[in-house]
Amino acid sequence: MTNPRNISLSDDNQSLCELPVLSGTTGPDVIDVQTLYKQTGMFTYDPGFNSTASCRSTITYIDGDEGVLLYRGYPIEQLAQQCTFLEVCYLLLKGELPDSGQLKEFQYNITMHTMVHDQLTNFFKGFRRDAHPMAIMVGVVGALSAFYHDALDIKSKKDREMCAIRLIAKVPTIVAMCHKYSSGMPFMHPKNKLNYVENFMRMMLATPCDEYEPNPVLVRALDRILILHADHEQNASTSTVRLAGSSGANPFACVTAGIACLWGAAHGGANEAVLNMLEKIGDVSRIPEFIAKAKDKNDSFRLMGFGHRVYKNYDPRATLMRETCHEVLNELDLHDMKLFKLAVELERIALEDDYFIEKKLYPNVDFYSGIVLHALGIPTNMFTAMFAMGRTVGWIAHWDEMIADPEQKIGRPRQLYTGADRRDIPADHVKTSL
Ligand code: CMC
Repeated sequence: MTNPRNISLSDDNQSLCELPVLSGTTGPDVIDVQTLYKQTGMFTYDPGFNSTASCRSTITYIDGDEGVLLYRGYPIEQLAQQCTFLEVCYLLLKGELPDSGQLKEFQYNITMHTMVHDQLTNFFKGFRRDAHPMAIMVGVVGALSAFYHDALDIKSKKDREMCAIRLIAKVPTIVAMCHKYSSGMPFMHPKNKLNYVENFMRMMLATPCDEYEPNPVLVRALDRILILHADHEQNASTSTVRLAGSSGANPFACVTAGIACLWGAAHGGANEAVLNMLEKIGDVSRIPEFIAKAKDKNDSFRLMGFGHRVYKNYDPRATLMRETCHEVLNELDLHDMKLFKLAVELERIALEDDYFIEKKLYPNVDFYSGIVLHALGIPTNMFTAMFAMGRTVGWIAHWDEMIADPEQKIGRPRQLYTGADRRDIPADHVKTSL
């Protein structure tokens, strides 16, 4: 180090360059490599972004070693216990918790935008009934920009706020429509007298034939699931949203890119994969067989719901989700549920196993969220869409932060090219006719 704010890079004792070191509010310092290529003619190599900060952000902070998660500085435990999902949405979007007047206005604005354009319902008819809900989500959320182009000036703060309201309000309606379409049931319109989660549960689980009374314990559980999934700094789908948005694409298109990325089993698809895995294990007696498969280098099987890129300690969201799981199972008198017993035993065995201890593989949020969603009556193939519903606000908060950032430019990673060197087409190559 030549100076406290610079770091020097040398090769064979020859100084190559000086790079500034930047400090955030908390967390590791970062080496600013923006001038590295200019100074040395070299790039950095970091597939999977293990050591690369892609932006400055004020939204969410994670300390993976300590199991800490903060939204705008507030610990996730306090938010999950003392706030509602819509308060958390306001916090993520605006940076501060709302006062009662601000919250009332925000709730009103969201409620007034829960309906979707009637013509959007035609999109559903183009899908097979057995299409995966995430495939429908990608198509229908992407189509929103074709309907709401009256407020798509991304440089206008007012338009960006309108897009945020529309996305947070309409994604639950679309998620519920995906489920109703797959099961051949009529769509349920939103009901303005219900709160955000009650309204979603009614659209998702009720039919026009019966009155629907939301159960407050289950409503609170779903509200918590949404809070726990609302944001997680620069995860794969959020980074996808930022990258898509960096070219100036509209927010509906960017959020759709995030939904597509979330679908993968290593990310948001894990909650669905956890339930499928528990069903496949089927019985406590088969757990050792599956643990052995997870540890076998020659077997691609992984214990779904275990491990995390950032958390090398218990995922704080998993602790809260475990608590919610108990509340829901108590309320529904389902403590004897086979899947739950299986999950508890699997967790116990894995946490005592040297392989999982050495690699610091702890249960993540998805390990218990699948069981809670299952108990709430949400079909397994809808789980990732439920994750998307919670994460929409995080995606849009990051997109908005990026657009407002004066340092923002189009995202364009470099590469280490390992393909063929320049070569010529052989002289005897016969041109095929068109
Ligand atoms: N079961 C068995 N072994 C595992 C698991 C697992 N679930 N997760 C990681 N490992 C092993 C992995 O084989 C590797 O071993 P080795 O060092 O011998 O090669 C080591 O642990 C490190 O794993 P990695 O894949 O290099 O770590 P990563 O940070 O790239 O991956 C992960 C993180 C979440 C993709 C991975 O742990 C995983 O696939 N978990 C299962 C899927 C899952 O539950 N995903 C949800 C994540 S939380 C929700 C979200 O944020 O989207």
